[in-house]
Amino acid sequence: MTSPTDRSRLLVLANRLPVRRVRTGDRSEWETSPRGLVAALGPVLESHPGEATWIGWTGITGEHHDPFRVDGVLLDPVEMSRGEVQLFYEGFCNSTLWPLYHDSIIRSEYHRTWWDAYVTINRRFTEHAARRAEPDAVVWVHDYQLQMVPAMLRAVRPDVRIGLFLHIPFPPVELFLQLPWRRQLLHGLAGADVVGFQTRGGAANFRSLVERLNIGEVDGADVIVDGRRVQVGVFPIGVDAARIAQIAADPATIDRAAEIRASLGDPETILLGVDRLDYTKGIARRIEAFAELLSEERLEVPRHVLVQVAEPSREAVLGYSDIRDRVDGLVGEVNGAYGLVGAPAVTYLHRSQSTEELVALYRAADVMLVTPVRDGMNLVCKEFVASRLDNTGVLVLSEFTGAAEALSDALLVNPYDVDGLKNAIDRAAHLPTAEVTRRMAALRKSVTTDDVYAWARSWMVALGLDTAPAEPPADTATPRQETPA
Ligand code: G6P
Repeated sequence: MTSPTDRSRLLVLANRLPVRRVRTGDRSEWETSPRGLVAALGPVLESHPGEATWIGWTGITGEHHDPFRVDGVLLDPVEMSRGEVQLFYEGFCNSTLWPLYHDSIIRSEYHRTWWDAYVTINRRFTEHAARRAEPDAVVWVHDYQLQMVPAMLRAVRPDVRIGLFLHIPFPPVELFLQLPWRRQLLHGLAGADVVGFQTRGGAANFRSLVERLNIGEVDGADVIVDGRRVQVGVFPIGVDAARIAQIAADPATIDRAAEIRASLGDPETILLGVDRLDYTKGIARRIEAFAELLSEERLEVPRHVLVQVAEPSREAVLGYSDIRDRVDGLVGEVNGAYGLVGAPAVTYLHRSQSTEELVALYRAADVMLVTPVRDGMNLVCKEFVASRLDNTGVLVLSEFTGAAEALSDALLVNPYDVDGLKNAIDRAAHLPTAEVTRRMAALRKSVTTDDVYAWARSWMVALGLDTAPAEPPADTATPRQETPA
C-alpha cells in the first residue's frame, strides 16, 4: 500500500513514468514506456538502496491514478488535461524547445500560452517533488521538459540537493537568444546544484549564456549564481552493455539474426537504420544517399539492402507527419526504382520493436547507419556496438551526435554532405576485415567501459549519493520494450 505521505531519499523527475497508460478502444492498460530514459534509469533505481520515487506523466489524459509501486520504485503520476498536453507537451516542449535545441532544423514557434503551460506543469512536478522528498533528499530532474523545476523546487525546499541532466543538446548562444523566456529558463536551470550535459559543447554553451545574460559568473567549469556555486558537468550517457551482450549471446537471438538474413535473401551487406521517426534523425537523407549509390551502381540490390526501423513518435506534433510522409514516399520510390521481385531495396518497419528483435537486427546487420543532423547522444549506435561480440560490423556515425565525441573509431560523417555520406556508406560496405575488427574492438572498449552504470555512478557521486555504486543486477534478462532515444 502507498500513502500520500510516503517520502523518499532519492526522487527522479522525468516527463514520462517508466510505465505508460495505453488506450485501445474504450479500455486502457499499463505498458512499459518504450523510451530510452527508462532503459537508462531502470537499472540505477533497481540497485539503489531504499525506495526511490519516480514522478512523471502517464502519457494519457482523463484518468486519475494514485501512486503505486513497480519493482521497488514508487511511481507518482502527474496528471495533465488534454489542453495542457497540447500547450505543454506538443507545444512548448516539442514545437518550441525541441527544434530550437536541435539547431533549429525546423522553425521553433513561440507562443505565450505555451510558455504559461510550461510554467504550470513544471510547478505541478515541483509540488509533487516537494511533497515526496525526505528532508535533505536528492532530486534528480531529467530533460528539457522540466528545466524550470530546479529553481522552483529550491524556492520551496532549500534543504534538498538538486541535479538536472539534459538528455538533448544545449544550443549555441545565437539560437538560445531567440527564446523570449531565455532568462527565466537559465534561472530555472541554475536553481540546481549540478547541471549536467551530454557533451562539452553543451556545457560550454550554458556557461557562455549565463555570462552573456548576466545571470551569474563563470568560475572554471562551474557558474556562480546569486552567490551559490552551480556545478556544470559533462555526463555522456551510456547503455546497459552487459544486458545487451547477454541478449546478443542468447541462442534465440543468434537464430533470429540468421533468420532475418535468410529472409532478406542472404545479402552480402545489410545496412541498418534504427530511429524514432523524428526529423532530427536524418532518415530521409540516408535513404536518398543509399538510392544514389544504387543509381550509380556502387551498390546493387539484392547484394546490398537497407533495413530501416522507424518507431512512430509525436504524431500530433508539427513536423512529424511531414517527415513520415517524406520517408513513406521515399521508400516507395526507391523500391519502385531498384527493388526486385522478393528483394526490396529498403525494408521499412514503421513500428516499435522489442529489445530482443532490435538486438537480433543489430547482429544481422553489417553496417549500422546512425546519421542524425543533431542528436544529444544517440544510444542506438552504442547498442549496436554492444551487440557485436565478435568485433564485426561497421558503424557510420554522424559527427553531430553526442556519441561521436567518444566514438572516433566509427566512420564519422557530416550528414549534410551528400557525397561524404555516400562515400562513407560505400566505404563501410567494402571495408577490409582487419580494419573492421580494429575499429569495432576500439568502439567496444569505449561502449562497455562507459556504460550506463558508469554514467549513473558519476551522477551518484555528483549528487552525494555515492554510498552504493550501481552495478548490473545479477539477472538482467527482464524483457522490455525499448527504443531509440
Ligand atoms: C528523447 C528525449 C526524451 C523523450 C524521448 C521520447 O529521447 O530526450 O525526453 O522522452 O525522446 O519522446 P517522447 O516525446 O515520446 O517522450
